Amino acid sequence: MAIEKKLFGIMPSGEEVYLYTLKNSNGMKTEICTYGGTIVSSMVPDKNGEFHDVVLGYADFEGYLKGDKYFGSLIGRFGNRIQYGKFILNDKEYVLAQNNGENHLHGGLKGFDKVVWDAMIIEDEPNTLELSYLSKDGEEGYPGNLAVKVKYVLTEDNALEIIYMATTDKDTIINLTNHAYFNLSGHSSGDVLDHKLMINADKFTVNDKFSIPTGEIKDVADTPMDFRTLTPIGKNIESDYDQIVFGNGYDHNWVLNTNCSDTLKAAQAIAENTGIVMDVYTTTPGVQFYSANFLDGLDVGKDKAIYKMRNGFCLETQYFPNK
Ligand code: BGC
Repeated sequence: MAIEKKLFGIMPSGEEVYLYTLKNSNGMKTEICTYGGTIVSSMVPDKNGEFHDVVLGYADFEGYLKGDKYFGSLIGRFGNRIQYGKFILNDKEYVLAQNNGENHLHGGLKGFDKVVWDAMIIEDEPNTLELSYLSKDGEEGYPGNLAVKVKYVLTEDNALEIIYMATTDKDTIINLTNHAYFNLSGHSSGDVLDHKLMINADKFTVNDKFSIPTGEIKDVADTPMDFRTLTPIGKNIESDYDQIVFGNGYDHNWVLNTNCSDTLKAAQAIAENTGIVMDVYTTTPGVQFYSANFLDGLDVGKDKAIYKMRNGFCLETQYFPNK
């Protein structure tokens, strides 16, 4: 089905931002905007055939321009945290913004979530939107010109595929992901504590109290981090387990049971009231499960929704943070 395009807003610089709508023949509809390569909405059918928007987001472009929660955004150059905003590559130290306490988060002050991507509808591939962005050598402190392409594909079996590609002219580091917050009961339906979640991981990377992976990898067995079988998100979220206390809930990288070459079913989430099921497939070694611990009720979203703590969840497929 044809992808539709309309003007979404104008950047303070005068640059135009567009909204693209991908639809399949089952009626699933996903909107992507070129600011941040953001998933603005995704309407999916429930068990009775009624449609729900399962992605948290703002009602208009201004919301995205002001927002700081990464709703639906592409994340880069490096997803999650880098301790003290510093890394060494080929014996040279690179200094990045400290935009999360003393640490670097999600690419810095102006990460890929805050830039305008070029968009192209790929005519000979069904329902495919290709976004591209050239991040210049030194941008946000990272080395190398980095040409990034992200393809969003809406398939006939109700999957939204996100395919990340990048090339560079210098050694550099990269960790691309998408930061959509999902609520499979509908974006404005409150907390996700009764959603059931499975994460296909026997281990997770242990965090310090600033959510920086310490390098230790631990078994999930006998801890609240065990999602090897479908478990309600809320079951242990108030536990006094130190990892949960540090994160104020779940905000960790799980070490997927993967060989990284075959696509793995990394996670499954289910909302029983709507019957909506989301399966997450990836080739990355990790996934960050974040239970929206820092949503504070200050963001007014689509349909005037007030998004509070734990009103959504993110499953950010990724390489391990801080490495
Ligand atoms: C991080 C959280 C952070 C959030 C920002 C997540 O990926 O793990 O710690 O607060 O992004 O929205």
